[in-house]
Amino acid sequence: MMRLNHISDTYTLNNGVKIPCVAFGTYKAATGDNVGILKEAVASGYRYFDTASFYGTESYLGQAVKESGIPREEFFITSKLWKDEMGYEGAKAACADSLERLGTDYLDLYLIHWPQPSPDHRDWKRLDIETWRALEELYEAGKVRAVGLSNFLPHHMDNLLKNCWIRPMVDQIEFHPGYTQETVVRYCQEHGILVQAWSPIGRGRVLEDELIVELAGKYGVTPAQVCLRYALQRGVVPLPKSSSAERMRQNMDLFSFELSEEDMYRIGAMPPAGWSGEHPERERARL
Ligand code: A2P
Repeated sequence: MMRLNHISDTYTLNNGVKIPCVAFGTYKAATGDNVGILKEAVASGYRYFDTASFYGTESYLGQAVKESGIPREEFFITSKLWKDEMGYEGAKAACADSLERLGTDYLDLYLIHWPQPSPDHRDWKRLDIETWRALEELYEAGKVRAVGLSNFLPHHMDNLLKNCWIRPMVDQIEFHPGYTQETVVRYCQEHGILVQAWSPIGRGRVLEDELIVELAGKYGVTPAQVCLRYALQRGVVPLPKSSSAERMRQNMDLFSFELSEEDMYRIGAMPPAGWSGEHPERERARL
């Protein structure tokens, strides 16, 4: 495993762009004071922020970045186009709208949020290829420094890899102990696509699991830190989110312990837990 010592340490994407190893997620950044939470995250030391047109947090993030007084280039900002923004024209317009809301003239990373607008969409292969063509052009035009995918499964990625001119650089998927999507992770790692973890602590559903609690005790850390460290040791970028300054700092403090090989295997093979209920080819499961 590559030695990582701080959240600002980087991986290098397949186009040479450097990407920090831990991000701050902004989905449901807060029910109340979004800008305040994002400013707190900047003050805590996060520089890599993950947003999306769907989250409704782009303008808050733009404000927090601007008011920080820190140069734009020191941030790494990801956004995503939503299901109703797919297609060539839709993707171009969506990117312009995201840039406007963020108050910036470029994104560090731009993703297609879901591979299919709905589980029964018949023509997703063509739609994905057309959407991707727009991302390739945005990349060539310098509007986005890197391009990638979210929630794509291997067969969705295969379709693009066979038809693309610029290869996707990342795939962002639900990933946490109890739901590690090994088939997707293996496919990405074999194809030079960096995996990112949304819901890396299973929205709290995994934090009471007996194995995670046992390991937290063994390493003298919290259950959330065990989950985030698990992602790091799998070469996966976790995107934790929190509204509390104390937990924001806790979620950055991942470099003073290392899970043993045995414990990595135990986590990888634990019973399923904490699945969100989301899957691109199913209606959302109510759990
Ligand atoms: P809070 O905002 O009160 O900290 P996920 O990223 O897996 O979807 O989980 C996000 C949820 O987990 C948030 O509701 C957040 O609540 C909570 N959370 C974030 N960090 C921690 C932590 N270190 N310990 C416990 N809960 C956390």
